Amino acid sequence: MSNGIKFQDKDYGMHNNLFTEEHMLADGKYGLDVGGPGVGMLRSAAKFMMKATEMRLEKEISGEGDLLQYGSTLGDPAYRINLAKFLSEQFDDIVDSKSLMTTTGATAGLSLLASTFFNVEDYIFIEDPTYFHVNKLVAVDLGLKAVPIPIVEDGLDLEMLEEELERRKPVDFQPTTERPFWALVYVVSVYQNPTGLCYSKEKCEKLVNLAREYNLLVVSDDVYNLLCLEKDGDAFKRAPPRLYQYDVKSDNDYFGNIVSNGSFSKILGPGLRLGWIEAPKVVLSKLMVDGVLLGGGSMNHFTSGIVGSSLNTDLFSAFLLMVRTTLKRKLNAVLDVLQKHCPKSVKYSVPKGGYFIWIELPSYVDVHELSEFCQKIHNVSILEGKRCSVAGNCQSFLRICFAYYSVQENCIAVKKLLGAMESRLKRAANINGALQ
Ligand SMILES: Cc1ncc(COP(=O)(O)O)c(C=O)c1O
Repeated sequence: MSNGIKFQDKDYGMHNNLFTEEHMLADGKYGLDVGGPGVGMLRSAAKFMMKATEMRLEKEISGEGDLLQYGSTLGDPAYRINLAKFLSEQFDDIVDSKSLMTTTGATAGLSLLASTFFNVEDYIFIEDPTYFHVNKLVAVDLGLKAVPIPIVEDGLDLEMLEEELERRKPVDFQPTTERPFWALVYVVSVYQNPTGLCYSKEKCEKLVNLAREYNLLVVSDDVYNLLCLEKDGDAFKRAPPRLYQYDVKSDNDYFGNIVSNGSFSKILGPGLRLGWIEAPKVVLSKLMVDGVLLGGGSMNHFTSGIVGSSLNTDLFSAFLLMVRTTLKRKLNAVLDVLQKHCPKSVKYSVPKGGYFIWIELPSYVDVHELSEFCQKIHNVSILEGKRCSVAGNCQSFLRICFAYYSVQENCIAVKKLLGAMESRLKRAANINGALQ
């Protein structure tokens, strides 16, 4: 039995952050690996923030100075109340403002949760593949033992998860206020990064049951849930329900095992560093006595106040609609290029929301070599699938993001990538032929 994977910093020596000048800004260079909103979207976000800031600061000038004061540990009440109202509408579910806490984004939310509830050498069961920065955060920085659980077509392989839980569960674990959970499960249950898939209803129900039975904390990064790109006539549909919704309070065995870890990064802009945690009482009551929050007050108090005050206005709904319309246009353009020019032996996902397309090449193509070739010859970079795997799997996959570049730039970059693929497929076929 493996004892969980422990990573060294050296495993992450390259590409620590894709948003570097060399990576992003060089002329003629396309970073299809970057997972951020595009320049056009950010320019609109700047206009939105200018108006929202002006509106909110007008009140501040004659008010009590709330926004520039230390905030309460869980965050600005107005942000939490307006966010609850906004999310209730978006998710078509009741979101209680008392279950919300302000964060500086989903990465910080996960870090806070993991460091509050777990110790070095505790287990994290982690999707394989998953959001690649999480591997470094939990396994290297926090020293948790990562156990990869494969992603199948409708979410985590729960049979495998149960086998691993049986093997690793502590003898006689009894939840206490101090230690309510012995292990963490990390998922991205809606428009998963990198595969784009959504967990099925059955998977969500079963995962909640397992979490209750085995005393687990399950954190779902819900950063793409507001970005459903499917349409019903002229209107955008809703994304599938978030995992949190399946942890029903009226159930006899309810404990509070699921956290929804949300963010405005993919909608308004990652530079705002603004997000939220939606969590049960058992979780929030422990988070709110965190020493940093007690001393420093709410995380990102000022920005949450600005964004919070405009969440339920026409300004924000128009902005969100613009973001989804833009993303849909970009996605359709990339899918069109793929449909026309993608080699037959290459498969790709057709996401219904989020930011990413997951591409699988035949196993005889070396994706690492393709990546280097593509970057050197075509000036296009991609995210190799193995970087999304805590176990170094997914060697035949790669991830591209359709959100960052304009429609035209995306088409140029994806055609370049497909050209590089053709070349590597031919090369592999020639080598195979020569070997036969
Ligand atoms: C699944 C997932 N979680 C979290 C993040 C980062 O979120 P934030 O900017 O709010 O820290 C990303 C960004 O790519 C992501 O894909």
